[in-house]
Amino acid sequence: MNAVDSVLDAAPVADWRSYPIHVALVGVQTANDHLAVTWSDARVSPFHHQWLRDNCSCSQCVYSVTREQLFEIVDVPPELHPQRTRIDEQGQLLIDWQDGHHSRFHPGWLRAHAYDDASRAERLAQRPQSRLWGAEMSAQLAQFDYPTVMTDDHTLLQWLLAVRDIGLTQLREVPTTEDVLPALAKRLSFIRESNFGVLFDVQSKADADSNAYTSFNLPLHTDLPTRELQPGLQFLHCLVNDATGGESVFVDGFAIAEALRQEAPELFRTLCETPVEFRNRSRTSDYHCLAPIIALDAYGMVSEIRMGNFLRSAFDVPVEQMAALYSAYRRFITMTREPRFRVQRRLDAGQLWCFDNRRALHARTEFDPASGARHFKGCYIDRDELLSRIRVLQR
Ligand code: OGA
Ligand code: ZN
Ligand code: ZN
Repeated sequence: MNAVDSVLDAAPVADWRSYPIHVALVGVQTANDHLAVTWSDARVSPFHHQWLRDNCSCSQCVYSVTREQLFEIVDVPPELHPQRTRIDEQGQLLIDWQDGHHSRFHPGWLRAHAYDDASRAERLAQRPQSRLWGAEMSAQLAQFDYPTVMTDDHTLLQWLLAVRDIGLTQLREVPTTEDVLPALAKRLSFIRESNFGVLFDVQSKADADSNAYTSFNLPLHTDLPTRELQPGLQFLHCLVNDATGGESVFVDGFAIAEALRQEAPELFRTLCETPVEFRNRSRTSDYHCLAPIIALDAYGMVSEIRMGNFLRSAFDVPVEQMAALYSAYRRFITMTREPRFRVQRRLDAGQLWCFDNRRALHARTEFDPASGARHFKGCYIDRDELLSRIRVLQR
């Protein structure tokens, strides 16, 4: 291989994102199993030899079309060492490996992926944070105009960020036609179908296959807790709401879970650790899922609420745990009924709720079907699609 080839081979492959250089690489020192890189702000970041070789982004290691790795770390011995390291005129870290391979690291990328304590703490602090809410949200709803969301990418992004961080949003000026939800979903990604259809009609029906399709009071719940993966986003689009009653109610399930963690830690733990079964059966379907009511993510933060009393099976836990489970379950539902957490708003024709179904519990008050028509159209989209769309819009 001549010198020109080796330089081309070591050219970094972009991964669709950009990595601005806020801090320059100023030094590199060799240690036993790692390099210690010094930055212009005096931070020192160790990078293990294996980590550096693993993350080589040259065109031999990463396929430039997919930007996915071809190389696997077991393709080289664990003790592989750099033979020579230096910082070039563009401030990039160059490594010549013992086996003749060359790697080049862009300082912006390297800093963004550094795993020293300070860098990891910085990344943790920059993670999107859920903004918890209670009853005050009723007066400060995150509202967006449908026509603007449909035509302006900046407004689209602001709306999606509100869905991600607040978990409850309302769109206004929405046409009352049945083609709205497919068009809106397409603006975001695509719909997640269920046994209730691509779109579902929330209407009082004689042959209801869910309490949702009656005029009863429907207590606070997440939709499809009967599935291994509950739908991430739920859309409820009001075509007509002329009936008496039938108001929408929301609570922030994350806020309630965090309050429970503070106020009764042992009850919180019970809901995190005890699997509960949810089921939905009809003539043609039979779904069930066994999972705890509160799920935590890898950082110990509440990441999901699973709740639907009308979809719950009989509790099945060891005898000595039953009383504790009822205490925790009663406390959680009691909290969903507390005014401090509740937002109650009537959805009118031409308005639409979009909320995080794995976070914001929703309910409907009883309505009188004889007093007027009530018809909402609904659909689901998974959280992954929301987060992917946000990242692409932010590039
Ligand atoms: C549902 C539901 C709310 C409403 O269909 O799952 O929660 O306002 N409906 O009818
Ligand atoms: Zn490589
Ligand atoms: Zn529902």
